[in-house]
Amino acid sequence: MSAGFAAALKQAQAKISAHMDTRLPETDGLCQAMAYALRGGKMLRGFLVLESARLHDVPPPAALEAALAIECIHAYSLVHDDLPCMDDDDLRRGQPTLHRKWDEATAVLAGDSLQTLAFELLAQPDVGPHAVELIRTLAEAAGKDGMVSGQMRDIAAETATAPLTLAQITTLQARKTGCLIEWSACAGARLAGADPTALRQYAQALGLAFQIADDILDIEGDAATVGKAVRKDATAGKATFVSLLGLDQARLRAEELADAACAALAPYGAASDTLKDAARFVISRDS
Ligand code: IPE
Ligand code: IPE
Ligand code: MG
Ligand code: MG
Ligand code: MG
Repeated sequence: MSAGFAAALKQAQAKISAHMDTRLPETDGLCQAMAYALRGGKMLRGFLVLESARLHDVPPPAALEAALAIECIHAYSLVHDDLPCMDDDDLRRGQPTLHRKWDEATAVLAGDSLQTLAFELLAQPDVGPHAVELIRTLAEAAGKDGMVSGQMRDIAAETATAPLTLAQITTLQARKTGCLIEWSACAGARLAGADPTALRQYAQALGLAFQIADDILDIEGDAATVGKAVRKDATAGKATFVSLLGLDQARLRAEELADAACAALAPYGAASDTLKDAARFVISRDS
């Protein structure tokens, strides 16, 4: 991890966590469970919001609302992803999953209220004149044509009679993981009312590379370092780039995608070096 990227990520984590303490005081059991779900992750999506906002001179309060909003959606997706009816996992970010620490009902409800909190944050006055655009695009990225659709395809693939094609796996991964990453990277441009095309191209490649790295970590990673159970995807019958292409080809594809992500940032010049470092980090990470 480059020193510049490590410092920028750490700073983003600190800012988003402080904002979380303001927006989500732990006043009852539900809020405690929601805060638990938000803590301990890399906050890569929130970081992408803050970096893209910096590139477009977005006022920091607006960027922070959007960064926390996407972390809420991401945290909710993980809480539900870990439930027994989905991936049935006991460990997340090195801690018990929410339904293991509390119970399934609390996990469902904390996920639900993390989702609504995301939209509440984007509707705050400090988000500025483009709030509705952010709300609409986040609903699209998270819902029936986005993350939830990808999760549905992921679960359906476990019991499919024939293996998915490369095109089907690409759509599945682009929705499951790509859509939220894409929204995050485009958020800065959208908050400024600017064209998000270059950031979208960056993020589409980044999102696929990110999920390939996640699938490789499931095979090669160590649970203590990764912070979640490993070597589960093959047994569960998950359709991944690795299941179709094998490890070497998948690794090569991730490298190509990271290169493509960096190339897409050309219009931003050296100001986007931290985002380029993020693309390198995504394919070389060990957690
Ligand atoms: C994990 O995402 C889920 C996937 C989309 C593969 P992250 O690896 O970003 O998880 P945290 O937030 O850092 O724990
Ligand atoms: C989860 O993908 C993606 C979402 C939660 C949308 P995975 O099921 O591969 O994520 P991990 O491996 O449990 O983090
Ligand atoms: Mg899953
Ligand atoms: Mg999972
Ligand atoms: Mg995984």
